[in-house]
Parts: sequence; C-alpha cells; structure tokens
Amino acid sequence: MKNRILITGASGQLGEFFVKSLIQDNNYVLATDIRENKSLDCDFEFFDIFNFEMGDQLIKKYKINQVYNFAAILSAKGEKDPLLTWEINNAGFINIARLCLKNDIKKIFWPSSIAVFGHNSNLDFVKNDEAMLPETMYGVSKLACEKVMFYFNSKNLIDIRSIRFPGIVSNSEPGGGTTDYIIDMLYHAKKEKNYTCFLKENAFLPMMHIDDAIDASIKLMKIDKSSLSKRSPYNISSFETSPSRWLDLIKSIGYDLKMNYKVDYRQKIADSWPKKVDDTALRKDIKWSPKYNDLETAKHIINLIQL
Ligand code: SER
Repeated sequence: MKNRILITGASGQLGEFFVKSLIQDNNYVLATDIRENKSLDCDFEFFDIFNFEMGDQLIKKYKINQVYNFAAILSAKGEKDPLLTWEINNAGFINIARLCLKNDIKKIFWPSSIAVFGHNSNLDFVKNDEAMLPETMYGVSKLACEKVMFYFNSKNLIDIRSIRFPGIVSNSEPGGGTTDYIIDMLYHAKKEKNYTCFLKENAFLPMMHIDDAIDASIKLMKIDKSSLSKRSPYNISSFETSPSRWLDLIKSIGYDLKMNYKVDYRQKIADSWPKKVDDTALRKDIKWSPKYNDLETAKHIINLIQL
C-alpha cells in the first residue's frame, strides 16, 4: 500500500534525503519544518511540533497514516541550551505520539542516537542493550524517548521503530552534531580550504553513508513486527573513523586537504560515545548490510557536494 507520510524536521540534516527516498519508494510525502527548505521536492507546510492543533489539521487534511519524526536539536548545539533541547526533543516526541494516538496513526519512525551511551557502556564495542548513562542533554533526551517508545510498543499503543544513528555522512551542511566534522572536512577539501578540526586526530566514532541509513530505516519500517526481536531501538553502523584516518582517505582520493586541530568541548562528548557498535541484531532481523565502506562513502559524497 502506498503510505501517506508526514515528516517533521524535514529541513534538517536527514529530512531531504528521506523525502527523496520515500517518494522513490512510491509513498506520498508531506514535509514539515519551522524552516523552509527549497530543495524539498514534495508538499511542504510550516509546522512547529508544539502546535498540536495544526498537527491535527495537517494529519486530517493530508490523510496521513505514518510519521517520520526528525525534529530535534543535535548533541553539540544541544549543550548550549540543554533545557530547550529537552523541550524540543522530548515534548516534541510526546506531542507527535499524542497526535498519532488521536488520529489512529499506527506507525512512527523516530531516530535515536549513539549519544544514548556513556562511559559505563563498554565504549570500545557497544552491545545493543548496554548500560546507558548519557552525558549530553541530547543523549539524555533520546534515552528518555527510548523508554517511552518501549512503553508504547509494549502496550501495543503505537508501533514506533527506531535505529540509533551514528554520524551520518551526506552532502547536507553540518547542523550542530559532534560527528559533523566528517562532512565539514569533505566541504573544506572540495573548497580547497584549510580545516580546523574540533576533535582529536585519533577520536574514533561509528559513521555511515546516508543512503545506507535510509535503506535500513525503510526496511525496518516495512518489515513484519513478528521479525523484530526488539521493541526499543537497534544499533547500526557501517564503519569507524577518526579525523586523521578520514584525512588520509580524503588525500587518497586526490584532495590536498590541509588540517590543524583546535580541540574544544565536543571532544568530551566524543569521549563518552561508542568507538564501535554491535549491530548484529538489526542486520539479522531486517536482513540488511551497508553498501558503502569509508572509502566509497568519501568518494560518493564529495562528488555530490556542490559549491
Ligand atoms: N550525529 C549526531 C550528533 O553528532 C549523533 O546522533 O549529534
């Protein structure tokens, strides 16, 4: 069946890519955000996720039957205003759930993050259901929503599906995340400008190509519930990299990027995140594996960047 999907936060880091793929997958898509994004090739409405009335009207007007809820403040930006981050990430999540319950919408996709983990999570290789004491408000807010998600799923109130995204590599402008250096380096390489990195050269974090993240998300949304071993989010990853390894890779594909380091508060955030995650549960349940390794990701994304 063709789904009628509402996307919140569609002008953010993930939105436009999901819009494209969901349309290609033969769905109707309504993109919403508080900021316009002219590159979105579908219906668009200004929508603040706190505006319950308007959400209710949009769902009815466009006959929505699924929501992809991306409205959020990311990790690094979130530390500048933790309370606002809590408000947007959590009250937003609850408001969308309430709208879905009111309008009998049964399915939501909502991304969680590697930020839910903390120093007590065996960061060298983090299992799916590990101990979690996140150290950023972004991580705290995502973990709180993970618990609410588990509650809704367990009570069969809504079917919420979720993946804990690592750093997502795409050609969208960086948007306040700790993993954003990976995109910024590609932009600087393409612009032939020097890059000053805010993480240490050996700070390893899990990453993946946006197309792989979307492919897994859509697969997860489509699969029969009986195939899922988890009612809470799944880990996912494709490769691990660090600023110096990513630099070597960029150089190996012919870009002479010059880089220096000015480490800031974001290094502490990275220190509290996984270096590698165990995503065997997701790979097994939805029969998925990534198409892009680190080299293919760098090559592909750098070619997509338009200056
Ligand atoms: N990419 C995100 C961030 O850095 C992690 O989910 O905030």
